[in-house]
Amino acid sequence: MKSTAIANSNIALIKYWGKINEKLRLPANSSISMNLDSLWTTTTVEFSKDLKKDRIIINGIDNGDEANRVSKHIDLIRKLAGVTTKARVATKNNFPESVGIASSASGFAALTLAATAAAQIKIAKKELSILARLGSGSASRSIPSGFVEWKKGDSHQNSFAISLFEPNHWKIADIVAIVSDKPKNVGSTAGQKIAKASPFFKIRLKNIDKKINQIKKYIKQKNFARFGELIEAESMELHAIMMTSTPPLIYWHPETLKLMACVKSWRSEGLPIYFTIDAGPNLHLIVEDKNIPALLAKLKNICEVKKTIVNHPGGGARLIDRHLF
Ligand code: DP6
Repeated sequence: MKSTAIANSNIALIKYWGKINEKLRLPANSSISMNLDSLWTTTTVEFSKDLKKDRIIINGIDNGDEANRVSKHIDLIRKLAGVTTKARVATKNNFPESVGIASSASGFAALTLAATAAAQIKIAKKELSILARLGSGSASRSIPSGFVEWKKGDSHQNSFAISLFEPNHWKIADIVAIVSDKPKNVGSTAGQKIAKASPFFKIRLKNIDKKINQIKKYIKQKNFARFGELIEAESMELHAIMMTSTPPLIYWHPETLKLMACVKSWRSEGLPIYFTIDAGPNLHLIVEDKNIPALLAKLKNICEVKKTIVNHPGGGARLIDRHLF
């Protein structure tokens, strides 16, 4: 059977950074995110007796660098479903690879849903999130819809993500401002391995549950100012951990700092916007819907911003009828 799934990417508002179990991708802390409706991956999977080995086509490239990680993930699903045949997989992002947006979250969420459906196993959302987590931690959060919490848990079976609020709960947007399209030198998996080396990591973990409770409250109340202050401070803390790891990790570029300064100055002029930054140089600008035009007008004048992508809160991973092959 051939199955196709779509999953949106997500932006972490309280970040996942550091694991207590590398193999199972059990995180050191719970995290909170919002799905991004303009960024998604489409994946088609078909198991077939005619294949001698898996055939993995990612963004048009046959058996490229990431093919092995995909095959390994399919092995888990084969084992679960009792399937022994090889798979044909095609996967495509709707955003160009070159914009420097991480695709592992949407990628592994779409792959997990498409492969389990193709293997004809019916599993609950919770189990899908658990499985997606094994491919990439942040992918667990792209299974449920809207505003999401990944509860860290302490075992394979209880570390999964759930939806806190549906996408229509709050009219806010994440405008991704691309300042660099170069691939990063150190990926998230490698970066997380050295997080514990930072003297501030322990302090972060001590305070994180309080932050999780606060952000959930601010999202529920739609308190944009408190929400924005908290996510911006959280993102600075994440990068402080990165910069004080051994060896230090610096994901920012000069353009990142320039845009951070712009955000501060636009805010002081009365435009309520806040930023968050993942493991890369690009800013995610969080803004209420009513202020999107004003923010886009400002960004147009900043030559360091190469591209902007406007996202609203997105839905969860879902099956579709249009296959890629
Ligand atoms: C900074 O989910 O890419 O984006 O589990 O090793 O694949 P692996 O890591 P990944 O890490 C994401 C890190 C982050 C923060 C976040 O999304 O929570």
